[in-house]
Amino acid sequence: MLLKNKKKIINIKNIISLTKKNHTPIWIYDEKKIKNKIQELKKFDVIRYAQKACSNIHILKIMRQSNVKIDAVSIGEIERAIIAGFTPKNNEIIFTADLFDKETLLKVIDLNITINAGSIDMLEQIGKISPGHHVWLRINPKFGHGHNKKTNTGGENSKHGIWDTSAALSIIKKHNLKLIGLHMHIGSGSDYEHLKQVCDAMVNEVLNLNYDIISISAGGGLPIPYHPNDEKINTQNYFTLWDKARKKIANYLKHPIQLEIEPGRFLIAESGILLTEVRAVKKMGNNHFVLVDAGFNDLMRPTMYGSYHHISAFSKHGYLIETEKKINTIVGGPLCESGDIFTQTEIGNIKTRKLPIVNIGDYLIFHDTGAYGASMSSNYNSRPLISEILFKNNKFYTIRKRQTISDMLKSETECYIP
Ligand code: LLP
Repeated sequence: MLLKNKKKIINIKNIISLTKKNHTPIWIYDEKKIKNKIQELKKFDVIRYAQKACSNIHILKIMRQSNVKIDAVSIGEIERAIIAGFTPKNNEIIFTADLFDKETLLKVIDLNITINAGSIDMLEQIGKISPGHHVWLRINPKFGHGHNKKTNTGGENSKHGIWDTSAALSIIKKHNLKLIGLHMHIGSGSDYEHLKQVCDAMVNEVLNLNYDIISISAGGGLPIPYHPNDEKINTQNYFTLWDKARKKIANYLKHPIQLEIEPGRFLIAESGILLTEVRAVKKMGNNHFVLVDAGFNDLMRPTMYGSYHHISAFSKHGYLIETEKKINTIVGGPLCESGDIFTQTEIGNIKTRKLPIVNIGDYLIFHDTGAYGASMSSNYNSRPLISEILFKNNKFYTIRKRQTISDMLKSETECYIP
């Protein structure tokens, strides 16, 4: 997204105005981009947003206004969905997990939220208290794929999903649970070849199931082009593959089947940037380090997976720094930990990036950080969560205030030991 000084988009000028009123670092999202991405998936009967990617209530409201349904993976995500206006009716909210903690089990039953069960134990636990409850089965298709081994969610090395579908079905029958559909999510950042295998696996599961379902879910995992050389996914191809699977299933069951998709990253990643300020520049032997005021407590992905986020630089005087001369740079943050580096490989080695020369007070922008940016942040090193700002109708709105130090410490200062 962004940056040339066009009107009506996020650009250097209006970002500079933001820095005058707000502390950096800041997450910034562009509403229009989110809405455009939703449109790209309109062929699916249901788009269900995996809110773990970015669970800000105001982002959830945008999804809801655009007829997107919601996935929740914790009691906190259920509460967020409800505050954003989603209701448990019509499967608007589905709870997906591999286990229930006791509190969440009771909440899901109390609100009558459909579940997507990733273990047979979940079916037993809900069946005992809430017979007749609506359930989906998250099937582990016995293979997986992801942009990193930590995001591969299929196969026998993964803790996710149900391996033995017929055992799950007998528990469903025992407790008179109502099976709505089958769901498969093999990982984040998958490709067409794996996708085709998943579609075939879905059809086979339904043929072997001997139970009448009304929906299937393609899960999430649609990749986005993080790197300038990455190809954009062809959503039409993606839909066509799943549509074929859906039609085979509909033919077999002799009635229409609803096709859901459950993206997180695809809907939100490209709408977001992380704005940071350069606070130190130093030479370590032959290496040139630029240190900014955001750390992996804010943006975790490079440290966790070696993920690439495109970086652009602009000057405190309000222009994009696009000089011919670029130097090998290592970009890091303020944390007291060597891994606090935004330019590193999957196995944690530093990796230089050709960047223009920047000085203290200039800004670095990390692109495509709308997904798994703010939502994976922590208070490590006792650093408060930073603000989130939404660009909508040519204006900026704060959608999360920067956490105050006293808010951060409250749950401890309120405890008293005599
Ligand atoms: N559905 C299920 C059941 C999932 O587990 C996930 C992601 C999604 C949907 C959404 O996947 P997406 O469309 O966003 O790829 N933190 C990692 C990604 C881990 C995602 C875990 N589950 C990252 O920063 O790339």
